[in-house]
This record gives sequence, C-alpha cells and structure tokens, in this order.
Amino acid sequence: MFDGRSVLVTGGSGSFGQRFVETVMRHAKPRRVIIFSRDEFKQYEMQQRMPAEWASTLRFFIGDVRDRERLELAMRNVDFCVHAAALKHVPAAEYNPMECIHTNVYGAENVVRAALAMGVRRVIALSTDKAANPINLYGASKLASDKIFIAANNLSGALDTRFSVVRYGNVVGSRGSVVPLFRKMIAQGTDHLPITDARMTRFWITLQHGVDFVLSCFSMMLGGEIFVPKIPSMRMTELAQAMAPDLPLKMVGIRPGEKLHEVMITEDDSRQTYELTDRFVIEPAFAFWQHAPYERLSARPVPDGFRYASDSNGDWLDGERLRTLLAEAH
Ligand SMILES: NC(=O)c1ccc[n+]([C@@H]2O[C@H](COP(=O)([O-])OP(=O)(O)OC[C@H]3O[C@@H](n4cnc5c(N)ncnc54)[C@H](OP(=O)(O)O)[C@@H]3O)[C@@H](O)[C@H]2O)c1
Repeated sequence: MFDGRSVLVTGGSGSFGQRFVETVMRHAKPRRVIIFSRDEFKQYEMQQRMPAEWASTLRFFIGDVRDRERLELAMRNVDFCVHAAALKHVPAAEYNPMECIHTNVYGAENVVRAALAMGVRRVIALSTDKAANPINLYGASKLASDKIFIAANNLSGALDTRFSVVRYGNVVGSRGSVVPLFRKMIAQGTDHLPITDARMTRFWITLQHGVDFVLSCFSMMLGGEIFVPKIPSMRMTELAQAMAPDLPLKMVGIRPGEKLHEVMITEDDSRQTYELTDRFVIEPAFAFWQHAPYERLSARPVPDGFRYASDSNGDWLDGERLRTLLAEAH
C-alpha cells in the first residue's frame, strides 16, 4: 500500500513514530517518509540510528503541530498521515492545561485542516484508553481530538480525504511508562517497587503490535471509525512481580487523574460497536454512514451494554506471557 507513496508521521521521532518508520521502511518501498516533530536533537539521534541506505527516502522536518502553515508545507504531495504527536504526560497536562490543549486539541484541528488543504488521502490519529470517559485533561484532550478527526469526514466533500482513529492502551516500554521506571529502579538497587493500588489493572500492547495494527487500519478504513485492538490486561502487582520476583511492593496510593481500571469502549459506545476477530470497530454516527459495512468482514454487533475495560477483559496476562512481553519490549 505504501510502495511509491509519501507518508508523514507527526511525532515521528517518538516511541511510536520511530517504530512505525522502521516498519514501513522494512516492508515497503515508499517514495518519501516525513518525520515531523519539534526537537532537532531527537531527530538527529533517530537519523543516526537509521540505516544509511534509507537516507534518500527519509525527510526530517522540524515543525510544530500548533503551526498549520508548517504542516501544510510538510503535507505537500503526502498520501498517508499518522498523527502521533501529543503531550501525553498526565500530571504535566494537569499543571499546564493550555499547553496540553494547544498541542492535543488545536494541533488535531491543524492536522485536519492541513490534510484537507493538501489532499492527503488517508489520516489516522492515535488515541488512548484514557480518552474513554476521561477523568484527566490528557484523556479529555484526546477525546476532543478523536471528535475532531471523526467529524473531519464531514468536511471532505468530494475530496478523497478520510480520517479515522486508533485507540489503544499502555504501550509496554514506551518513554515515560512504568516498565522503564521499574527497570531503572531495579538497576539502581531499589529495595521495593511502588504500586499505587493493589487492585489496579491496565491494558497492555507492544509497540510493534500498535504499529502493525495502525498499518492494518489504513487498509480497511472507510473514514470515521475508531479502531480498538483486542489486547490483554494485567494487574500492576503481577507486572512488578514478573520484573522483580524478590522485591517487596509498596502501596503508594492512587494519584490524581488516575483510574483503577481503564476503559476502551464504554456502554454508550457499544451501540455503534462491531466485533471482528482481532479488533472492535466503533462506527461513526453519521447520517451518511453506509449500513453495517463491516458485516462484509463477518463483523457482528457487540451485545447491548457491552463494555471493554481492563478489569473485565477475558484475556489476562499470566506470569509466563508477561515475561515474554517484557522481553519483547527491550
Ligand atoms: N505510549 C503509550 O502508552 C500510548 C498509549 C496510547 C496512546 N498513545 C498515543 O500514541 C501517540 C504517540 O505516543 P508515543 O508514546 O510515541 O509518545 P512520545 O514517545 O512522547 O512521542 C511524542 C512525539 O510527538 C512529538 N511532539 C510533541 N509535541 C509536538 C508538537 N507540538 N508538534 C510536533 N511534534 C510534537 C515529540 O517530539 P518533539 O518533542 O521533538 O516535538 C515526539 O516525537 C500519542 O498520540 C499518544 O497519545 C500512547
């Protein structure tokens, strides 16, 4: 699908962006892959890591998603765009609310407007489980972003520009997440691992699974869907025990803006939700949405009142699977 095409990744120098670029470069022959982000040093380091033979295809484009003109320049002749740029640190968003809103909400609007102006064919925006029934600003800003991308399909008119969203949970090992924190503490010889609440559960996905899932969504999207992968859940206590079986756990209390369990599909979303073998699809509530397009792919509607949450998920990570997942996340 990407052979001979141009692909742009906002936040291309982040955890997701780097793995996405590597995967596309390994499995396709794109004309150009544009890495769009602000910090020249992160781009420089990424450039150093990439094989020399990719240099003629990769474009390291400095820009801020808050700057629509810059996005328009970057999106000239682009066919596919993944919008991964975001401020995603929950406490930072609480402390600096307008910064979060400028990047995650106005940035989403800018990506939509630039993609429409430049005739980009397919756009996928990354979302998070924290956007479902949000209780912190990061989640609320991503919910606003989801709404902006879904409604953007109303603006396409005769253009062949389509927007969809991919929503998933914690990425094992991504920057600023709990796995690198625990690894650092263990390496420094900590005498315990901190757990906010013994009941806490989370969804888990590997970076590669997230990237492969986004790629698969490009080939099936019609515009307006929220795609949710079926992924396992785990208890935070079991993660800590899998990483350091001999270390005691210390309960430090749930932090502001944190949930005990995450939700990816709420009861209210379930009325619009179809289930496929490996994913759920939340269909948009557009008057012009085709009737049940996913039934062609043997999708079936989820039962009334269905909820996809990390505590009631049927797929649990046990010790062995958890250790395999952790090894993959290195
Ligand atoms: N990691 C997870 O567990 C997780 C889970 C679910 C969903 N997600 C979503 O997945 C996406 C990617 O996450 P990630 O883990 O790859 O994050 P990350 O490693 O922090 O990367 C974020 C990227 O965005 C760029 N960026 C930040 N602000 C920008 C701005 N104003 N303009 C342009 N670029 C900007 C950063 O580079 P500069 O700082 O150089 O600009 C960086 O390249 C995010 O949308 C996040 O919400 C992540």
